Amino acid sequence: MGLKIGLLGLGTVGTGTAKILLSPQGRHPLIQKLEIYRVGVRDISKTRDVNISPNIFTTDLEAIATDPDVDIIIELIGGLEPARSLILKAIEHGKHIVTANKAVISRYGPEIFEAANKKGVYVMLEASVGGGIPVIQPLKESLGVNRIHSVIGIVNGTTNYILTRMQQEGADFADVLADAQRLGYAEADPTADVEGLDTKDKIAILAFLAFDGLIKLEDIYCEGIRQVTAADITYAERLNFVIKLLAIAKRCPNGMNSTIDKLELRVHPTLVPKTHPLASINDVYNAILIEGEPIGQVMFFGPGAGSGPTASAVVSDMINIAAILQTETEPIPHPLLSCTHQHYCETAPIKELVTRFYARFLTKDSPGVIGKLGTCCGKYNVSLESVVQTGIHDQLAEIVVVTHNVQEGNFRQALQEIQALDVIDSIPSVLRVL
Ligand code: NAP
Ligand code: HSE
Repeated sequence: MGLKIGLLGLGTVGTGTAKILLSPQGRHPLIQKLEIYRVGVRDISKTRDVNISPNIFTTDLEAIATDPDVDIIIELIGGLEPARSLILKAIEHGKHIVTANKAVISRYGPEIFEAANKKGVYVMLEASVGGGIPVIQPLKESLGVNRIHSVIGIVNGTTNYILTRMQQEGADFADVLADAQRLGYAEADPTADVEGLDTKDKIAILAFLAFDGLIKLEDIYCEGIRQVTAADITYAERLNFVIKLLAIAKRCPNGMNSTIDKLELRVHPTLVPKTHPLASINDVYNAILIEGEPIGQVMFFGPGAGSGPTASAVVSDMINIAAILQTETEPIPHPLLSCTHQHYCETAPIKELVTRFYARFLTKDSPGVIGKLGTCCGKYNVSLESVVQTGIHDQLAEIVVVTHNVQEGNFRQALQEIQALDVIDSIPSVLRVL
């Protein structure tokens, strides 16, 4: 039985996908069962880097989504609309879906999965997180027997590239971002990457699978990397840390025996100890560290974006569907491949987070400043692990502190009081420590 593919989008990932489908030699034999039947794009006159007959191109994507001959729709156009409507329309017409669209899945996943389960079709999303890294299927299948405690990831290649270059060259954020745009790593509008929004979409999807519950995007605390300076990276280095944009989803300690999951869900630049497995993930690479019981720690590492790697994930979803359709005897939703969660996870507010902090203060260079900082911290139960004064800049002293574990709400109160001290000029940076 051959399967007819409706490919929506023939850009970076769509082209990589078509190239795999058109050169099946040496790959899984099921690929030969997949026929590129129709291709939907915005501009038919564009020159394409793949040899597909122009006769099957159209700009009418809805016609593909509703074509009775199409078996699987591959949504690779990106963005929210028309991607969401096309996916829903295709499901309504009984098509299986493969998508790389984390923005749509993190926002409209519940609506899409419900429609798919009702209709008895699959929605596969391996390429939506970590590009070519297999992490979605492992979470659904191979790790499914574990009680997952945490998922911590570097899941945005652009920001990891920027932070790596800042660290290696002492360069400033704006200069490296401009370079990343020139090299084509960062998009012309880099907002979703540098503000952490792309990472937020991805951790919503990972948390949804790891903790078996729906996630509201607005419950995820999110800070991007714009405020990370070369000075912070240098201090972090001296203190034996590197700074990474981490996506963290964790079961709260007091939620372990609760019937309702309470999760920490956050995205922010983080000081990572140099000895930690995520500290050495550099450039555009991604990695996801999953900790569970009984497996302990397992880390997935690889290319988090790019045409070929992302297409590898897309086509793996396609052959999964092809394999099931060939052998299936049970009715779908398939217990391992489908997403059938009904309830929303409960999230702990960020002020309840217990973590270590790094803070950098610019102060008057007068006696007793460190004592005053210490007094404010003590008042709110903030215990200091290290205090470093590095010298005078523009007649101001620069003091860097790292705290022991402290509740975020308490630390914020201490900072408010410190900010009001007459010896304090400013608090340029506050970052969390892993
Ligand atoms: P892209 O290069 O911009 O390609 C988008 C394709 O969709 C183009 O072929 C474009 O047509 C077509 N398209 C867009 N809007 C359309 C519309 N309204 N009607 C008809 N056609 C439309 O995007 P991409 O980088 O391949 O990304 C595709 C998806 O994969 C996105 O969801 C993205 O987040 C995800 N993803 C990408 C990467 C990556 O490395 N690029 C990695 C992981 C996930 P034209 O060619 O005619 O312009
Ligand atoms: N903009 C994303 C990144 C693409 O830089 O990781 C892959 O999802």
